[in-house]
Amino acid sequence: QKKAVVGPLVGAVVQGTNSTRFLVFNSKTADLLSHHQVELTQEFPKEGWVEQDPKEILQSVHECIDRTCQKLAELSVDVSNIKAIGVSNQRETTVIWDKLTGEPLYNAVAWLDLRTQPTVESLSKKIPGNNNFVKSKTGLPLSTYFSAVKLRWILDNVRHVQKAVEEGRALFGTIDSWLIWSLTGGVNGGVHGTDVTNASRTMLFNIHSLEWDKELCDFFEIPMDILPNVWSSSEIYGLMKAGALEGVPISGCLGDQSAALVGQMCFQEGQAKNTYGTGCFLLYNTGRKCVFSERGLLTTVAYKLGRDKPACYALEGSVAIAGAVIRWLRDNLGIIETSEEIEILAKDVGTSYGCYFVPAFSGLYGPYWEPSARGIICGLTQFTSKNHIAFAALESVCFQTREILDAMNRDCGIPLSHLQVDGGMTNNKILMQLQADILHIPVMKPAMTETTALGAAMAAGAAEGVGVWSLKPEDLSVIIMERFEPQIKATESEIRYATWKKAVMKSMGWATT
Ligand code: G3P
Repeated sequence: QKKAVVGPLVGAVVQGTNSTRFLVFNSKTADLLSHHQVELTQEFPKEGWVEQDPKEILQSVHECIDRTCQKLAELSVDVSNIKAIGVSNQRETTVIWDKLTGEPLYNAVAWLDLRTQPTVESLSKKIPGNNNFVKSKTGLPLSTYFSAVKLRWILDNVRHVQKAVEEGRALFGTIDSWLIWSLTGGVNGGVHGTDVTNASRTMLFNIHSLEWDKELCDFFEIPMDILPNVWSSSEIYGLMKAGALEGVPISGCLGDQSAALVGQMCFQEGQAKNTYGTGCFLLYNTGRKCVFSERGLLTTVAYKLGRDKPACYALEGSVAIAGAVIRWLRDNLGIIETSEEIEILAKDVGTSYGCYFVPAFSGLYGPYWEPSARGIICGLTQFTSKNHIAFAALESVCFQTREILDAMNRDCGIPLSHLQVDGGMTNNKILMQLQADILHIPVMKPAMTETTALGAAMAAGAAEGVGVWSLKPEDLSVIIMERFEPQIKATESEIRYATWKKAVMKSMGWATT
């Protein structure tokens, strides 16, 4: 049977904390043709530890690619039309593997993992010169969040990893590197690379020179020969070595938040997006300028779409726990069976009835960067039900975004007039309305909500030598499908926000008491 040809297609791997997906787009229309998703295990071997199995992650990518290709075949779409693949991934999560066997040498230490707090404390005592040493080069505060301290911890605590490093067998990478190395051949010539956006989250990368920084590597005592090569976000890294897409170039690579910025078409200075995933990340494009925050925001490489193209930067507000609070209510408390049920519970009551939930499970990220914070639920009475707690959980995501937005508005001097949103949680209409109410600006959701995948596909399709996706300004516009206007008075939202801040203060310091 002859299969219909629908034009050049581009695939995108979206490897998140919670799940892996593979999505295929038509490069001429940006329409999504098919996709497949696999939920992932997260391991919590000790309090504060969060790990994932790199082989399960790799396996999930193979499964998603295979199943998507089958679905395309069922739609009579010839998979040989897939001309490129982009990779976008959870950032910071640290993998170290043996290049001779292809086996991970340790579980992936996830971005949310807190075990490195003592490592961070001892490193902060030996910062040379002034406190700005790390931040001025990397745009990041010294925190458990970033890869360098995770890698330092592994080298200090896992003897066989240290041995593999000494024997020249070990390779380090964030999830993108692990996947790209494995997919392009692994032990048989896999490409050891990463892109500037992922590299900028390791704390070993100089965001001005766009190179690994020798002084930082010395400071963290990380051997530079285990680091991947750094490329732009849009160029051919290598070819798929096996499977249904064997021979297809991997030509796009971006950290998931950068990919979402690209997929939301935020190419102009001053444009911003907020993505609601496991965490919640608001990125504000600052163009070719590195803007340093006074208020707990990160400076990060937003994208570099081609080897000869300039790097663009972003200010980022990072919230550790957003969707993860819903998963916690499902998996730890069991008050919902599926994530979608949270909306029904919250809608039933329409208020938290004075209950506030600060989900500081991994300390608090931006704007506080307070590792001693822990989660609290407060304001409880005998009237409080699981519905109110569900509502408070949703509100917590909105309040955390408000904290970030306030910091961003002050750092940038020009308040955002609206918020462009994406990510799985934006399907929750109660959440989106609450967000508009608490920010007191309109919240806008694009018609294409798969922005992370779209950004990775755009980068891959536009790469030199692929050239099936146009990045001309006239071809880049975002179509807004839903708009949520604030429906409460500004004074009411201020009162609720002030009470939230009181709750946040109570969450601080728990880890040390
Ligand atoms: O920095 C962590 C971030 O990249 C994780 O994204 O989508 O898994 O919440 P997500």
